[in-house]
Amino acid sequence: MENKAQMIFQDFIKTSTPIFKDRNSLNSHFTPDTIPHRNNQINNLASILAPSLKGGKPSNVFIYGMTGTGKTLVSKYVGQELEKISNQGTNQVKVLYINCKMKKTADTEYRLIAELCRLLGQDVPSTGLPTQQVYNTFFRLLDFRKWVVIIILDEIDSLVQKMSDDFLYNFTRINQDLTNARVSVIGITNDLNFVDILDPRVKSSLSEEEILFPPYNALELQDILRQRTKLGFTEGVLTDEVIPKCAALAAQEHGDARRALDLLRVAGELAERTKGTNVTGGHVDAALEKIDYDRIIESVKSLPKQSKAVLYSTINLIEKNQDEIQTGDVFNKYEDNCKNMGLSPLTQRRVSDLISELDMLGIINAKVVSLGRYGRTRIIKTSVTNKVKDKIKNVLEMSLVV
Ligand SMILES: Nc1ncnc2c1ncn2[C@@H]1O[C@H](COP(=O)(O)OP(=O)(O)O)[C@@H](O)[C@H]1O
Ligand SMILES: [Mg+2]
Repeated sequence: MENKAQMIFQDFIKTSTPIFKDRNSLNSHFTPDTIPHRNNQINNLASILAPSLKGGKPSNVFIYGMTGTGKTLVSKYVGQELEKISNQGTNQVKVLYINCKMKKTADTEYRLIAELCRLLGQDVPSTGLPTQQVYNTFFRLLDFRKWVVIIILDEIDSLVQKMSDDFLYNFTRINQDLTNARVSVIGITNDLNFVDILDPRVKSSLSEEEILFPPYNALELQDILRQRTKLGFTEGVLTDEVIPKCAALAAQEHGDARRALDLLRVAGELAERTKGTNVTGGHVDAALEKIDYDRIIESVKSLPKQSKAVLYSTINLIEKNQDEIQTGDVFNKYEDNCKNMGLSPLTQRRVSDLISELDMLGIINAKVVSLGRYGRTRIIKTSVTNKVKDKIKNVLEMSLVV
């Protein structure tokens, strides 16, 4: 007898019109050839960087905007075009791109500099050498000739959390220690508050030029999706409401093109799985639910242990149908649970902070209410459906020993 897996694979091959023509082009890592609605930003960045082609040092640039507004795409694109022109001529420009959020490449100062050495063509072991030695290698690789090196530090805000402001301060002043090479830094952030927490000295040297990436509106998102649809989907499989719906949902949040693309791709995958021949608005609704579900489960999995214990205790109370759950109730339950799990309990104050963090992640809803002269407390509820709550509980039980 055929097994189930074979049937699924056979069906998959037999399906007459495949939904996807090229699934990859709907992935958020795919780099499209054309970038609609970012002409201003592209022109602006290109004009700032152009002097490098004649050996001049471009200003440092600070790029900011919400997630999914095309910052990474545009910076990489302009960087590539710049290198292309340079390679045809004087070969004077080199662009190095680092995503500072990546643990492997930018977790410590050492790793970041080692990664830059690697991008300049020399492997440095990822641990073990004295940091000064790695710096020396970096300076040697950088300064061995007259050229302009543009270093793109994407998601630079995560660097500041991991390293001191001094690091960035020194980094933006690297030219003082170079004789031949000239370095410009492009810092990119999704975090609009980042500028406020930055050391003012770093801020002024990093943001010699600033470029803002505003959110896309629904019509702009539709254009972006249409362009990808041509590459990604078989012609005619999308019903008319699909693109406007994905665009509208993503625009409601904050004009995030990644979110719009994810909705479109997942809607297609769901249609494919149910052996549909079309992608419909219903598939987009289902995609929305699935993406939010996956996101919440992922964020629960990556919570620190103490937060997991707090969340677990909250769920315990919710399941007892207690309706007015307050911080103190959660704390009592949490203390009990800590005993059972062999965890040393935090103070009520810390637990209260963890509850606010869980609220920010959208897992629970903790509304502050005033108790008049008795001060303030939080009334805690779940902000997810029962199905999601059960799954969260399941995930927590797997990782906490309960
Ligand atoms: N104007 C655009 N045209 C085509 N695709 C875009 C555009 N802006 C963003 N995207 C796509 O949306 C996703 C998110 O863009 P990205 O540059 O990573 O955003 P950010 O770095 O601002 O968070 C990527 O898949 C990117 O290719
Ligand atoms: Mg980005």
